[in-house]
Amino acid sequence: MTDRVNELVARLRGVAKSETARADIKALLEEAVADPVAFGDALPTYEEDDVILFEDETVSIWHCRFQPGKTVPPHDHKMLATIAVYRGAERNDFYERGTGGGLQKSSEVRLGAGDVFQIGPSAIHAVGCASQEPCCGIHVYLGALTKVDRSLFDLSDGAALRFTDENYLRLVADD
Ligand SMILES: [Fe+2]
Repeated sequence: MTDRVNELVARLRGVAKSETARADIKALLEEAVADPVAFGDALPTYEEDDVILFEDETVSIWHCRFQPGKTVPPHDHKMLATIAVYRGAERNDFYERGTGGGLQKSSEVRLGAGDVFQIGPSAIHAVGCASQEPCCGIHVYLGALTKVDRSLFDLSDGAALRFTDENYLRLVADD
């Protein structure tokens, strides 16, 4: 990892246990992507779309890249999530459970380079790339994301499925 990434990871870890972690993480990420081009230039080119930069029991830090024309399936995180975009744009579709067990889209938020957005533990979102180029960002979760039992949702019937690689890849949609 580059110095820039190491420094950001260290600072995020430093505030993750704080009583003001929510605000502190947002502030650190806002500062990091305030000059999104410079931030992106300081990062390595990651081979994988999803790269776990760090995880322990208190915080998970990912580099996420969304490819044009694809939307990842609706999912929850079971912990606070903070999204900071530094290149391209991502479309967040938020869903709520409907009375009949299905999923209903409740809102849509477009995040562009320099934007930071937080979503609560029970929020359900799908993420698509809203730019011609891949959308890149840092996603920070307040807990051990790979250890939590969380869900994916099948939009066709609203069914909640276990968050597994197999289910995830099956549900990735073409726009
Ligand atoms: Fe997510």
